[in-house]
Amino acid sequence: MNQQNQSPSRNPIKMNMHTPSLLDRVVEEFKIQFNRTPLVLAQAPGRINLIGEHTDYNEGLVLPGAIDRNTIFALGFSPDAQICEVHALDMGEMIRFDIGDLNKMQTEGWGLYILGVVAALQQADYEVRGFQAVFASSVPLGSGVSSSAALECSLLMACRELFDLDIEPFEIAKLGQWAEHHYPGVLCGLMDQFSSVMGRKDQLVCLDCRDLSYQYIDFPLPDYRFVLLNSNVKHSLSSSEYNVRKRECQEAVQLISQAEGENFPSLREITMAQLEKHQRILSRKQYLRAHHVITENARVMQMMQELVRGNEEMIGSLMFASHYSLRDAYEVSCPELDFLVMQAENHPGVLGSRMMGGGFGGCTINLVEVDRIADFISQTTEAYLESYGIQLTPITVKLADGAGIISFP
Ligand code: GLA
Repeated sequence: MNQQNQSPSRNPIKMNMHTPSLLDRVVEEFKIQFNRTPLVLAQAPGRINLIGEHTDYNEGLVLPGAIDRNTIFALGFSPDAQICEVHALDMGEMIRFDIGDLNKMQTEGWGLYILGVVAALQQADYEVRGFQAVFASSVPLGSGVSSSAALECSLLMACRELFDLDIEPFEIAKLGQWAEHHYPGVLCGLMDQFSSVMGRKDQLVCLDCRDLSYQYIDFPLPDYRFVLLNSNVKHSLSSSEYNVRKRECQEAVQLISQAEGENFPSLREITMAQLEKHQRILSRKQYLRAHHVITENARVMQMMQELVRGNEEMIGSLMFASHYSLRDAYEVSCPELDFLVMQAENHPGVLGSRMMGGGFGGCTINLVEVDRIADFISQTTEAYLESYGIQLTPITVKLADGAGIISFP
């Protein structure tokens, strides 16, 4: 895959989204909290993923894109070089910590990501002093569109600018991932942070998580939109089971490596024929997890071809196939998500649908014909309410540019 290294520029970007009011609110709140104007404004978006789920930490392929929902940070130096104060506008909460004490026991929730980012910068030897910050977000929380990566990457962008740190965009993504591993403790792959930083308007980006090469691709279906349906459920299993899945995949690699007398670094190196050959020595779960990852990588490769061809039918079928594999083999779906995908399958305006992100709740991604979006949403909302007593949150998103510095309004 060709490496197209186009760094998001450090020049201010103009926001082209529905964010001016969010931006104004953040700037205004900064003045209220800290009695002066911020020095830096930065943003980083959430992401969608067309296909390639639970493949990133298996050195596999993913096909995400950044979206027009983002987290905005306003940042300034703190009067006390040791102290950071961060105000979460949406929550009306403030944390205060000493830059020399980043013990994660002192906070929880969103605060962990903030501490994680500062710790990530410090462990990479970047010099950070006390700062004051206000942030707010239009990325829906806990819905599988990676609000956490948006938070991490937005703060990283802002710190890079404020402290004039020489950090490559790709490294921002890796620092965000480091923060996530070491603070909230989710052993995620690189997909979310990568898309939040490297995303481009109107394009998806295929990342090869083995060699970190990537390739942008235009989204070829002008008559379709990405409609996310937030199930508004988040099963408590999500983060613990995520790490369990990762371990099961590693176990499968080890067992197959031993049997083959080779040292395979990841499932990416293992073929379906090898998996079938060694099915007996794997537990049923290990076999199913590996089966999902191997077939999902193949689906991403095929999806790239179908996007180039603009083959609507195959694009949709691959999405459904991904969902069934996530449901039956990787076992990260839940009844609510399965119900939403089934509704989509029965609607004539929907090309494809599947659960998106880590799973056990969150949202489905649906490719829906523009003229039928309203009908699809109203039918599904009604059916979901009737079956689960839960109000659905639909979100229609566009592919947008990745993280950047915002010019002052
Ligand atoms: C979460 C993780 C990602 C990825 C997805 C599943 O969003 O943060 O790294 O593993 O789950 O594809």
